[in-house]
Amino acid sequence: MPDRPITDVLTKPDSSLELTLRPSLFSDFTGQAKVKERLEITVEAARQRKDPLDHILLSGPPGLGKTTLANILAKAMGTNLKATSGPTIEKAGDLAGLLTNLEEGDVLFIDEIHRLQKTIEEYLYPAMEDFKLDIIIDQGPNARSVRLSLPRFTLIGATTRSGLLTAPLLTRFPVRERLDYYDANQLQKIVVRAARLLNVEMEDLGAMEIARRSRGTPRIANNLLRRVRDYAQVRGDGKVTRDLADRALAILEIDAHGLDEMDKRILETIIVKFGGGPVGVGSLAVAVGEEPDTLEEVYEPYLIMEGYINRTPQGRVATELARQRLGLTAKAPASPQGSLF
Ligand SMILES: Nc1ncnc2c1ncn2[C@@H]1O[C@H](COP(=O)(O)OP(=O)(O)OP(=O)(O)O)[C@@H](O)[C@H]1O
Ligand SMILES: [Mg+2]
Repeated sequence: MPDRPITDVLTKPDSSLELTLRPSLFSDFTGQAKVKERLEITVEAARQRKDPLDHILLSGPPGLGKTTLANILAKAMGTNLKATSGPTIEKAGDLAGLLTNLEEGDVLFIDEIHRLQKTIEEYLYPAMEDFKLDIIIDQGPNARSVRLSLPRFTLIGATTRSGLLTAPLLTRFPVRERLDYYDANQLQKIVVRAARLLNVEMEDLGAMEIARRSRGTPRIANNLLRRVRDYAQVRGDGKVTRDLADRALAILEIDAHGLDEMDKRILETIIVKFGGGPVGVGSLAVAVGEEPDTLEEVYEPYLIMEGYINRTPQGRVATELARQRLGLTAKAPASPQGSLF
């Protein structure tokens, strides 16, 4: 296996693990209480009316449960889910193929929907609104448009960057939900459930230690759990106590506060390069080598939630907490003589 940075290993999805641990019912899906309740109501209402589910857009940072929710929704409706992703739909024909293969009520899940090509997106509008697909067949003087009727389907789109979606696409989703980071108690529950499924003996405090260091993200929590399980098996007696979790995570160089490399780079840049801020998101993005949208939609929400950054009209400002975490506290002013007491 090529060498990958540890953060990569921890944040990238692991498909076999995700399949085992992915909850398939609303009742197993922890946290996001309001989103969950609204979606459950939407499902119940559609079922009572015997209608397909309205189109739903799920947005939010990676690993928070968008794909999981899409699967839960299809299952709750008792329909099939066909999954694809924005960049894999290259031609209008690809989209036509997907849409015409659906059955009434089926869910078409388009992951990374912000990466759909503009031309493809335009085919999607009438499909979403009227369940019609206008395709052009033949070329030159023989070219003609044919209108196909589609089964009434549900489109569930997922995106980490809702800011990149065009207004016409955005407004064609009657239901739009944004997932937010999980708090440590919710993540602890997720870790305890995952440990049970993986047959790992886990103390509550051990689960809490993993939860606290998972950057508010279930995927990271599940991945850390697996690394801690390895450590427990090789260096311990298999049981995950708080102390063992702490040692295992220290070996992996997992930050005690759940910050990842990029988080630290962002904070350090604001503090060192921009004197603590305020700095505009554009300049900050260039300095850390990221897209401004990614900064705003993927990294910042966590840093703001945890109180490391404030957003002000002038730009981003690092807080005292950020300085403390990075050990970059401003030097205390030298005390004037005689005022030591
Ligand atoms: N609320 C939850 N309760 C329990 N487990 C969860 C929850 N949300 C996510 N998970 C776990 O985290 C894993 C990652 O979630 P998921 O794949 O749904 O994230 P995502 O938002 O689609 O991420 P990406 O943007 O990278 O596609 C899932 O396999 C599941 O095991
Ligand atoms: Mg996903």
